[in-house]
Amino acid sequence: MSLLLTDIGELTTHTDEHGTVHDAALVIESGRIAWIGPAAQAPAADAREDLGGRAVLPGWVDSHTHLVSMGDRAEEFIDRMAGRPYEAGGIMRTVEATRAAGDDELRVRAGSLRAEAFRGGTTTIEAKTGYGLDVETEQRLARISAEHAEVVTYLGAHVVPAGTDRRDYLDLVTGPMLTAVAPHADYVDVFCEQGAFDVEESREVLEAGRAAGLGLKVHGNQLGESGGVRLAVELRATSVDHCNHLAPADVEALAGSATVATLLPACDLSTRQPFPPARALLDAGVTVAIASNCNPGSSFTTSMAFCVATAVLQQHLTLEEALWAATVGGAKALGRDGTDDAVGRIAVGGRADLHALDAPTARHLAYRPGTPLTHKVWKDGEQR
Ligand code: NIG
Repeated sequence: MSLLLTDIGELTTHTDEHGTVHDAALVIESGRIAWIGPAAQAPAADAREDLGGRAVLPGWVDSHTHLVSMGDRAEEFIDRMAGRPYEAGGIMRTVEATRAAGDDELRVRAGSLRAEAFRGGTTTIEAKTGYGLDVETEQRLARISAEHAEVVTYLGAHVVPAGTDRRDYLDLVTGPMLTAVAPHADYVDVFCEQGAFDVEESREVLEAGRAAGLGLKVHGNQLGESGGVRLAVELRATSVDHCNHLAPADVEALAGSATVATLLPACDLSTRQPFPPARALLDAGVTVAIASNCNPGSSFTTSMAFCVATAVLQQHLTLEEALWAATVGGAKALGRDGTDDAVGRIAVGGRADLHALDAPTARHLAYRPGTPLTHKVWKDGEQR
């Protein structure tokens, strides 16, 4: 069964072959894109949907979330808005709520956030553990994450739980906890920050994860110049996320590497951190991704459209750069660009993960911020 989507006002493909096509059409067959081109030349298909001049772009690739988590930290958020600084210590509040929740409760919450993200155009999502911090709960979070997310990241090294000896905890994270979680995970991550893990501890966590077959990710330089960015580059991590506090040497290191710098604009607003030097990163040639960082503590949103609008309005990305970062950039941050299971582009033979806007051009995402612009979303060719 093939489906022709036609009368697309503007089709953003992020491919060299097609670029941006106006008055476009495409054909979906067996969950894949079978044809792309001008609407006037579209082939016949079993079914046809007229998009009335709307813009179509790849579904968002949200490469950083903590989807499986419980609790509400609105009070802490209100305190921050009144001037209290964001601290890593708040993580333990989510840990307590998450540990207390049964699997079904966690599933309902994660499923509802995933559905919300999908309704906003997100077709690929990553989810981290990190709110369990004991072997049993970390493994539960990894299993439930795999039910709701395409990519799972093990973040046992989020913080050292209160009352636990650091050395003992590191041995747990790099030993029995890793063994329990690794079969359910794709990446290992570490919060390399004051109040969490220092550079040498982070190195130990990442090296253990790599030895267990996991790819590497780092939460780096969120609250200060933690050394996380330099470590990520040195260990050839796939991405380093946050990047709020960067010295020129950090930007230089990233520019000479394949490590993706992931911007989390909603988190920066919610924690009142200075934005990363996004323009400097892009101008230096760093590969940049944009993600939501959905979690109840530092960024309680699934809206990639909000993140894209913020990156344009506040961080001086062009709309094209922001769209690319929230699709192809996210795919690169998940090792899913140029691979068989690639996402983030609309390419013949590639997955039909599509986001149609109630707007004639994707520019409206920043031009009409805060307006729900998603018209329809398809994942693997299916509208869900
Ligand atoms: O990416 N920065 C560290 N960890 C998470 C959320 C922490 C929290 O619950 O406050 C983040 O922002």
